[in-house]
Amino acid sequence: MKDKVLDILRKAGNYVSGENICKQLGVTRTAIWKIINVLKTEGYYIESVNNKGYKLLEIPDIFNSCEILIGLTTKYMGRNHEVFKCISSTNEVAKQKAFEGAVDGSLYVAEMQSRGKGRLGKSWHSPTGTGLWMSLVLRPQLDPEQLIQITLVSGVSVCQAIRTVTGLDARIKWPNDIVVNGKKICGILTEMVAEQDCINCVIVGIGVNVNTPCFPNDISDIASSIFIESGVKYKRVRILRKILEILEINYEKFIKTGFAEDLLMEYKDLCINLGREVSFVVDGKMCCGVAKDILPSGQLIIEANDGKLFLLKSGECSIRGIYGYV
Ligand code: BTN
Repeated sequence: MKDKVLDILRKAGNYVSGENICKQLGVTRTAIWKIINVLKTEGYYIESVNNKGYKLLEIPDIFNSCEILIGLTTKYMGRNHEVFKCISSTNEVAKQKAFEGAVDGSLYVAEMQSRGKGRLGKSWHSPTGTGLWMSLVLRPQLDPEQLIQITLVSGVSVCQAIRTVTGLDARIKWPNDIVVNGKKICGILTEMVAEQDCINCVIVGIGVNVNTPCFPNDISDIASSIFIESGVKYKRVRILRKILEILEINYEKFIKTGFAEDLLMEYKDLCINLGREVSFVVDGKMCCGVAKDILPSGQLIIEANDGKLFLLKSGECSIRGIYGYV
């Protein structure tokens, strides 16, 4: 009912009388009044004027079903969703939901994570209200080695979504950090739930620093946000919807034609590693070289300084001049 009232106010773009809303929804004026009050407490700025009715003046930067679905063009990505105020980690929730049978494209979003997880066992700073912390359940028919490809497909999709909404020159640092002006504004953690030799499902966890004004000292040299880089505050749900839309298109392309064609080209166009001096760890040893190419498998080819070629399929690959590696 709340969603329906919002929909009426949104479509009207002007005052709508309580009576008019009652007629459309077949409920009493008191019921409408109560719903309007709930919406106001959620942060919707609704003006009520005697003899005119209600007018929606401002939509808050919050996640709810109505805001996620409004104008969303996907067929299934994000259509089944749940929003949490505070959760340990959306990836953990998504994993649990996947075990319980969550459908392909199910989405879990949180305002805040108390134990946000990063790659390689790191934690992920997930404060309340300023970031987009989301996880998707995907159910592709893949071999476990193809996990890296799904990781790269997610990276290219999130990067394209951020570019489209904000106009920022967002780039990808292999495998899937999203970087603007040399700082990380988004990280992606893909985890698989596998049975023997086939992937049962993949959890794609995406953390975007959207309106974060500043970061704790230990990560302030590395991390940034869309707000810091653009000076503009964006409604997080706009970025969420665009990620869902672009990811669905790319995911379908990937299922139909694989990673090796268009998606690989698009990825390479956005990737900042290629041709740069990089450092990476092999068997516990730090090595340096130049990133040469990305294979259709998704692996990064590096020519080490002694001429040896290495193929990376996971792990860290620092780029000289980009956060931390000087
Ligand atoms: C990285 O280390 O770069 C990956 C960070 C991934 C963070 C996101 S936030 C939403 C989802 N839930 C988590 O616990 N982690 C991912």
